Order: sequence, then structure tokens, then C-alpha cells
Amino acid sequence: MQPISRRQAILLGGLGAAGTVAGGAGLIWTLTSPSGPVSGGELTQPQEERSADGQLQVRLEAAPGQILLAGRQATAFGYNGSVPGPTLRVRAGDVLKIKLVNNLVQATNLHVHGLHVSPEGNGDNVFVSVEPGSSFDYEYNLPDDHPPGTYWYHPHHHGMVADQIFGGLFGAIIVEDPEPVETSAERVLVVSDTTIDGTGNVAAVPAMERMMGREGQLILVNGQSDPQFSARPGQRERWRIINACVARYLRLRLDGQQLQLLGMDFCRFPKPETVDELLLTPGNRADLLVTTTTGDSVLRAFYQNRGSMPGMMGPGYSARNPADQPDGAALATLRVSGEPAAPLTAVPAYRGLGDLRSSTVSARRQVILAAGMGMGGGAGMMRFTINGREFNEARTDTTVAAGSVEEWTLTNTSPVDHPFHLHVWPMQIIEENGQGLDTAVWQDVVNVPANGRVKIRVAFKDFRGCSVYHCHILDHEDLGMMGVIDVR
Ligand code: C2O
Ligand code: CU
Ligand code: CU
Repeated sequence: MQPISRRQAILLGGLGAAGTVAGGAGLIWTLTSPSGPVSGGELTQPQEERSADGQLQVRLEAAPGQILLAGRQATAFGYNGSVPGPTLRVRAGDVLKIKLVNNLVQATNLHVHGLHVSPEGNGDNVFVSVEPGSSFDYEYNLPDDHPPGTYWYHPHHHGMVADQIFGGLFGAIIVEDPEPVETSAERVLVVSDTTIDGTGNVAAVPAMERMMGREGQLILVNGQSDPQFSARPGQRERWRIINACVARYLRLRLDGQQLQLLGMDFCRFPKPETVDELLLTPGNRADLLVTTTTGDSVLRAFYQNRGSMPGMMGPGYSARNPADQPDGAALATLRVSGEPAAPLTAVPAYRGLGDLRSSTVSARRQVILAAGMGMGGGAGMMRFTINGREFNEARTDTTVAAGSVEEWTLTNTSPVDHPFHLHVWPMQIIEENGQGLDTAVWQDVVNVPANGRVKIRVAFKDFRGCSVYHCHILDHEDLGMMGVIDVR
């Protein structure tokens, strides 16, 4: 990574509320502008760090710099100088130690999204603030029975999360399967979106777009625009897809190939499910098996209607948005040719995470997700609330008895979707809009549709302490749609 100029440092420092505003549309990087991003190129994998002897120790430096995005140098944020940051591979029972070094000009911190680890002290504690020029030593102790799966890390400093992720701060965490699934290739596909202005800087985002949840003009896979890769027919590839976009829902298709979903978010389904389309809200991950068939196939993201607010534009269909084109946005291209590969052994069955539908529920709660015009926020500002309140880190909103099972009814009274996320403890979806589910479905981000209702159950076991739940449209989270939970 090259050093950056003083001016760039100032711009990046101002990415928050007082950020620079990109002028007309001509000042935005688009796939057609001459100095803009470059599509294609061979898909790269983020650098990998793997645990050994029960431990992985890494240093993650968050800093602005000249970073390769869509084939060009842009002024953005990176962990260790790249977007995404390194992929961390660990196993159940491991200790993961991360020294976070903050060389941004604003505070940050680190969250390990989805990991079932302690939220206290130097664990997955989102109340820690790491000031510019300082560092913090996180230590995460994964229990011996930690579910395998695809997880990720990103900043969680309230008020700055959306800007820091939009700027490029995120990376994958993989908890390996106890019993390996035989594949011919395993790929991590971290999908993010951002907007780069005409001077090669990450663009500031106007208040209106924050309220809707920003959607960047560039959709990237591992920091690349429509990268390519190849396979032979009859191979079985495993793709771990992470939606690291601030607000964009990804409705994904890979026509021409056979897709089976091994799992969503973490863990695995008892057996793989055949799919031809999948929806990832911000924060969700898909563990996908692709059985290859000769021909070229494009992984595409299609427009997903997540509602709109009266009197406001978007996030409805927008002609200039790449994912809003009728044939979607091309995320990556798979080319399959050559001699057929020998078949692989069957995917081992997985025992799943159990089922809370027959558990004794010790408390039932209502969680109301709302968005409305408010007095507090200034002229034209919406208030994003949970049970009528905006986030206040000094207030505990929900107190839960450690070890108990609770049932929460998540009700969305607003005309836009909100993806609900709880830290540390996985959620089992029990009912969607009044319809009971007939299998045990576990996720850590659950979409609550506009004016819809979802019932979840959570077993608050293994850990105590304060943590949070929030909307994973990270602009909404930054605007206050987050609550504090104390498990004790
Ligand atoms: Cu990925 Cu609290 O978030
Ligand atoms: Cu999280
Ligand atoms: Cu929301």
C-alpha cells in the first residue's frame, strides 16, 4: 500500500458526517468512464491466515491508503492494505487473537459477526472504542462445539459502521467443518458495494441515502469487478458468499449451473438443498455447492424491492444502479470447459443445531422495528427505533436470564424491510408472517419484511454479558436502530 497524501487523509478523515460530497453524476466512477473501474481479470482470494495448534494470532491494521478496487487504485480503507482483509481460518475450540491497530483518523473497533463467543472484556465487545493511533488486543475463545461455517469481521463503532464498511473494512472468518466436505475448489466470495468519486475517493453519502440505506454504484467480489475463473465440468465447487454491503440485498442467480445450499449464515443444513436463486440480506452468508456444467455462467445480483418510504426516493428501482438493470449486475463469471471430472464422494450428513420449537420458553417479548418522522433528528430526518427508542449505550433495553430460551416477535411497522441481527446467540426462525416453519432454520440475520412479522427463539446459553441487536442495514444501525441486551 502506498502512503497517502495529506489531502487524501483529510478527505478520509471526513468520511463521516462532514464528508465531502461528490458533485454531479459525472464525478462518480462508473464502468463506462475512461479512468473508472476495470472489469474482468482472474478472481483473487484474500490472503489466508490459518490456525495451528489451537491458536491463530493476527494483526489487523485499519488504515486509509491507495487500495486496489475494481482494478484501479482508489483512496479507501483497508485491513492490512487490502479489500477485503485477510481470511481467518479457525476451528472449534481455537483461540483467535487479533491485535487491531487503528491508523484511521477516527475511532473504530472490531466485531466478529456470528461467532458464538463471549461479548465481554476483550472478547466480542462492541462497546470498546479504539482511538486513532492506538491498538487493542482482542481474544476470542471458540467453544469446542462451536458451529462450523462462514462468518466475518467488520468495525462496530456506533455512528461510523456504515462509512467504515463502505470504505473497505471487512474480511471473512471460516470455522472449518469437523468432517470435511470433499470439493474440487473452495472459494471465498466477499460481496461489497461502494461508490468512488471522480478523484478516486470513496464518495460521501447524502443524508437521504443514509435513511434509505445506501447502495453503492460498484458491486465488487473480493474487491474486483466481475472477475472470472474456470473449472472443468462435473466438478463440485464450494462458494462461501458473504454479503458485506451496507444496505444492498443480494438476490443471486447462477443460471446454467447446479446449485445446492449447504447452509445459511453458519452451520449446515442436515442435507444440502437444491436452489436456483438465493436472497442474502446485508450480513447474511451462503455456503453454496456448485456442480459445474459446460458453458459460461454469470453470477448475477438482481434488484430486490425492499420497500420505500412515503415522500422519499429509493431504495426503489434506479436506472443508474447496476443491480437494477433488467439482467442484474454481473458479480463474477465462471467458465466451464474441458474433460469431465471424476465424481466426488457424497456430502456427509450434518446433525444441525437442534430445534427449539419443543423447548420451554421462559419469556416472550415484542420487538417493534419502526421508522418515522421525528422531532429530534433535525428537519426531514427520520427516526429509526426499536421499541420506540434510539440506541443509547448507557441504557439496557433487554435483560435476559442466562441459560433460558426466549421467544421474540419481531414486528416491522415501517414500509421498508429491516434485516434483524443479534450478536453472540443464534436465532431460530419459528414463524414468518404467521406461517410456522416446518424445519429448524437457524440464522444470525433474519429479514423482517415491510409491515411484516417474524417469530424467533434464542437459547441464551454459554455466555453472559452485554451485547447488542440491531438492523443490519448499517445506516439504520448508525441512525439508532440498535438495542442493548444484558444476559445475566
Ligand atoms: Cu455484522 Cu452487529 O453486526
Ligand atoms: Cu454481528
Ligand atoms: Cu433497517
